[in-house]
Amino acid sequence: MKQTVSRRNFLAAAGTATMAVTAGASLAAESTGTAKNVKILGIACSPRKGMTTAKAVQLALDAAKGVDARIEVELIDLGELSIAGYSPKPPQDDFTAILPKLKDPALGGLIIGSPSYYRGMSSLCKAFIERCAPLREPTMVLADKPLGVVAVGAFRNGGQELTIEQIQAAMLCFGMVVVGGNAPAFQGATVLSTKDDISADTLGLDTAKKLGAHVAEMALRLAAKEA
Ligand SMILES: Cc1cc2nc3c(=O)[nH]c(=O)nc-3n(C[C@H](O)[C@H](O)[C@H](O)COP(=O)(O)O)c2cc1C
Repeated sequence: MKQTVSRRNFLAAAGTATMAVTAGASLAAESTGTAKNVKILGIACSPRKGMTTAKAVQLALDAAKGVDARIEVELIDLGELSIAGYSPKPPQDDFTAILPKLKDPALGGLIIGSPSYYRGMSSLCKAFIERCAPLREPTMVLADKPLGVVAVGAFRNGGQELTIEQIQAAMLCFGMVVVGGNAPAFQGATVLSTKDDISADTLGLDTAKKLGAHVAEMALRLAAKEA
C-alpha cells in the first residue's frame, strides 16, 4: 500500500499500525491465498558480524521460511559494515547497497535484531533506522508490513524488552505492523547469550522461532489481501 506523507497521515499511520496489532487475532481467520513469493528480510544490528544477534535473527528467519514454500528469507548482517546516521546529504556508505532490498516490492516483512546495549538498541541499529528515511517519503513503502524484533543480552533481565520496544516505537513511524504476542514471545524474541553462545537458552530460542513464524504468517495474509 503506497501513501504520500503529510504530518496528518504520518500520525494516522502510526495509529493504524497500533490498532493492527490488536486486530491480529481476526486476521487468523482470513485466507492466505497468494501465488506470489513473499520475502522476509532479517537485519542483524550488532557491530560483531556473525555473532549472537545474527544467529538469533537467522533462527527467526529459518522459522519464517518453514511456514510456507512461498516465503523467501535473507539475512543482512550489518556487522563490520559502515553505516552512519541520518545526514541531510546522505553519505555514500554500506547502506547504499541495502536500500534497494528494502524497496523490493516482494518485501513482505522485516525482522530486526539488536544486541541490548545499556538496555537499549545499538547505535548501529539506530543509524540503520535513521537511514531508512527514504522509505517514508515520498511513499510509505513499509506501511502495513509486519515487523518482528529480536534482542540479545548477556543478562536474563538485561533490557531485551526495552530494546525491542525502542525498535518497535521507531518502526511505527514507518507504519509497520508490530508482531508479537505468540507466547512465550510476548514482546518479540528475547534471547540470553552466555559467553557469546545462545544455544543453551531454550526459552529464548523458542521466542525467536515463534516470532519468525508469526511474521511470515502475517506477511502471507497481508499479501493475500493485496492480491
Ligand atoms: C557496550 C555494551 C553494552 C552492553 N549492555 C548490555 C546490557 O545492558 N544488557 C545486557 O544484557 N547485555 C549487555 N551487553 C552484552 C551484549 O548485549 C551481548 O553480549 C550480546 O549478545 C551482544 O550481541 P552480539 O553477540 O551479536 O554482538 C552489552 C555489551 C556491550 C558491548
